[in-house]
Amino acid sequence: MNYRHAFHAGNFADVLKHAVLALCFEHLKAKPKPFRYIDTHAGIGQYDLTRDEARRSPEFEDGIARVLTADAPDDVAPILKPLLDAVTACNDGKALTAYPGSPHVAATLLRPTDRIQLCELHPEDAKTLDQRYAKDARVKVEARDGYKALKSLLPPVEKRGLVLVDPPFEHRDEMAFMAEAAMTGINRWPTGTFIFWRPLKDLWAQERFDVGLAEWLIAEKQIEPEKILRADLWVRELETEGKLAGAGVVVVNPPYKLEHQLVTLLPWLCEVLKQGDGAGWRVDGGIAEDSLLVDEF
Ligand SMILES: C[S@@+](CC[C@H](N)C(=O)[O-])C[C@H]1O[C@@H](n2cnc3c(N)ncnc32)[C@H](O)[C@@H]1O
Repeated sequence: MNYRHAFHAGNFADVLKHAVLALCFEHLKAKPKPFRYIDTHAGIGQYDLTRDEARRSPEFEDGIARVLTADAPDDVAPILKPLLDAVTACNDGKALTAYPGSPHVAATLLRPTDRIQLCELHPEDAKTLDQRYAKDARVKVEARDGYKALKSLLPPVEKRGLVLVDPPFEHRDEMAFMAEAAMTGINRWPTGTFIFWRPLKDLWAQERFDVGLAEWLIAEKQIEPEKILRADLWVRELETEGKLAGAGVVVVNPPYKLEHQLVTLLPWLCEVLKQGDGAGWRVDGGIAEDSLLVDEF
C-alpha cells in the first residue's frame, strides 16, 4: 500500500468527485430524516497543501486553486457552492492552504443527526483519521478493508444515505474488485446511493466496469437505466501512460437533479481545468445502451 492521496489532493479529479459528493449530500439533507454516509476508502480526511507531498508537483494548483479564482457564472455558482463551502470551512475563509478529503466534505456538510462511517486500511492514515474526528460523535473510523466492510455495514439502520467507493487503483485488478464490491453492496442495499470513482486510464477495463454494472443492475435488480449516471472529465488527451488525464464517477440511484446539475457544471469545469488539447467531459445517463453482455462481466 504505497498510495498516498496527499500527493493528489485537490486535483481536477478530486474537484469533480467531491462536487458530486457534496451535491448528493445536499439532496439527502432536503429531508429532515437522518442519513448515513459510508466511505470505504477514506484517506486522512483533510490535506495540508503547504506540506512537501502536496507541493512536490502541486496538482491542486491545476485543480481547486483554479476553481477558486475563476468567476463562476450565475447558473454554475449554486452547483459549486456545497463543495466550495467545505473548502472555505477548512481554510477558515482565508488563503487556500488545506483541502477537504471526502470525510471532511461530509463532516462539514452533514447535520448533527447524520452519521459518518469511515474505513481506511492504511494503519497510519486510519490513526490520523481517528484522531481528527475523535471529538465528533457522528463519526466512526475503522481500520479495515472497505470492500469487505460493506457486507456488515449495509443496509444502514437509517435506511437512507450514500456509499462512496474511492480506491487507489494501485492493483491492476482494482476495477474487478470494485465491481464485485458494487454487486455485494447493491445486493444488500438496492435503494442506497452509491458513487464509484474510477480513472480514465485503462479505458477497456473502465468501460467494462460501467457497462457491466449498468447491465447487471437493469437485468438483475430491475433498476431503471436513468438511475445509473456517469460523469467524466478529462483535462487533456486521454493517455494510458503517464500522469492522470481523466477521471469520473458512476452514480447508482443518483438524486433526480444531479444529471441536470452536472450538465451545467461540467462544460464550465472543463474550460477552467483544461491542461491542453483534447480536454472534454461527458454526463451519460444511458450507459447500458452501449452494450456489453452481462455474463461477460
Ligand atoms: C483515493 S484515496 C481516498 C481519498 C478519499 N476518498 C478522498 O476523496 O478524500 C484511497 C485510500 O484508500 C486506502 N485503501 C487502499 N486499499 C483499501 C481498502 N481495501 N480498504 C480501505 N482503504 C483502502 C488508501 O490507503 C488511501 O488512503
